[in-house]
Amino acid sequence: MSAEEAAALINNDDVIGFSGFTAAGCPKAITSALAQRAEKEHAKGKPFKVGIFTGASTGDSIDGVLARAHAIKFRSPYQSNKDLREALNTHDAHYFDLHLSELQQYLRYGFLPKPRIAILEASGITDDGKVYLTSAVGIAPTVARLADVVFIELNHYHPQALAGIHDIYEPADPPLRREIPVYSPEDRIGTPYIQVDPAKIAGIVETNLPNEIGAFTPSDEVTNQIGRNVADFLSSEIKSGRIPAAFLPIQSGVGNVANAVLGAMGSNPDIPAFQVYTEVIQDAVIGLMKQNRVTFASGCSLTLSAPVLEDVYANLDCYKQKILLRPQEISNSPEVARRLGLISINTALEADIFGNINSTHVMGTKMMNGIGGSGDFCRNAYLSVFTAPSTAKGGKISAIVPMVSHLDHSEHSVKILVTEQGVADLRGLAPIQRAESIIENCVAPEYKDILRKYLLLGQKGHTPQNMAAALSFHDTFNKTGDMRNVDLNKYTP
Ligand code: COA
Repeated sequence: MSAEEAAALINNDDVIGFSGFTAAGCPKAITSALAQRAEKEHAKGKPFKVGIFTGASTGDSIDGVLARAHAIKFRSPYQSNKDLREALNTHDAHYFDLHLSELQQYLRYGFLPKPRIAILEASGITDDGKVYLTSAVGIAPTVARLADVVFIELNHYHPQALAGIHDIYEPADPPLRREIPVYSPEDRIGTPYIQVDPAKIAGIVETNLPNEIGAFTPSDEVTNQIGRNVADFLSSEIKSGRIPAAFLPIQSGVGNVANAVLGAMGSNPDIPAFQVYTEVIQDAVIGLMKQNRVTFASGCSLTLSAPVLEDVYANLDCYKQKILLRPQEISNSPEVARRLGLISINTALEADIFGNINSTHVMGTKMMNGIGGSGDFCRNAYLSVFTAPSTAKGGKISAIVPMVSHLDHSEHSVKILVTEQGVADLRGLAPIQRAESIIENCVAPEYKDILRKYLLLGQKGHTPQNMAAALSFHDTFNKTGDMRNVDLNKYTP
């Protein structure tokens, strides 16, 4: 059927679950038609909004078009679209952020509204309902099973030879759940397809559309230095024997910093070739595979820029031996992360001097993207590293503040903090020691004295915060546009 015919079968207030993870593997055609339909309904004065569950962020053809059409009632879990962000921050759409590993089981448990509709992007489908996904998995197996109605976007941009790269597995729910039998990143535990009841498939829409993945911002001196600091730190941990000489699988977060960190790890001769067990396989992983620096990558999506994805597709026989795509409850499973001993490296928006992390809220109020998988991994990793440039907005913001304006990861989950200035190893340190280490090693020079002064204002107690001054950096930024104007003289210990 056409995308318009499919969109006509979706109602106001429906809940839809999508395949895909990041802009990889997301449907594109039906949602674009749905946005047009919503606009027409709105023009007639009728309400038209749908609830949306995805794997993570999406391409513009889900989050962008539907946000601009004011057609999103609620949205979960991760997003990174400018227009959707605006809708969430103005309450045009409601946003429920959660750990990515939890979404599939929350849907099964009935904690969240049941998706009536599933829309899956496929590279192939058989008469008996075997659906072969494209460049990501996300929550697709669960929403395909729970939904009453399934639409398939059969996207011929993706080769049918992708069949075999996916490993589809859904654990049983408690009290029947057993261990997830992944003992090494390359272990296959499921099927290469999703089995959908053919009676539920209401339509197949054929497309030929590339993923909507933009190129990375080229790395700069700051991100490169963060990368070198992480790589040097990890190689010193290997030398000290705290990380096994054969090394451990790497989980690497999303964004520009994460891409630069992987690049630096690849060029460090003291770090052996390694495996990746992560959610997002970014360009840097493929680059390192070509140099034999990454030997295997298990992930949830191939979030690759178009030239890199096309290169992978041109050499699929080879890459299928080295890449595996899993549902996010497996790629991000706390159980598996703990068992494999992942070294997890994620990026923070801000950290505080006591080691707490804000990954999501700008100045404590505006949603940036969401927590993503950072909590799944950092809480359960062998070693959890957070990275961030020490300042943002040309130095007007210190990424390290007295107290985070929003808490995503607490001091209990954060072991190592790295900026371009250096590395703070927080393991085994009391709060006052952590503050001293972070100020000396990670804070930008222009903020060091201010934060030292803040620490002297600390009130009596285990964690020497000053309740009146704790958010003075943010307050000063909101009022003057520059945290460096903060005046700590008005506070007393
Ligand atoms: N306060 C306000 N703004 C800040 C800031 C701070 N402390 N720190 C950074 N920013 C701004 C930057 O200036 C930039 O703004 P711009 O888009 O207007 O240029 C923006 O935030 C993004 O910063 P950038 O340095 O480009 O970061 P990134 O691409 O490496 O992404 C995160 C950083 C934190 C947004 C991203 O890693 C994320 O969403 N993390 C949460 C989810 C996660 O960790 N998932 C991984 C699990 S696998």
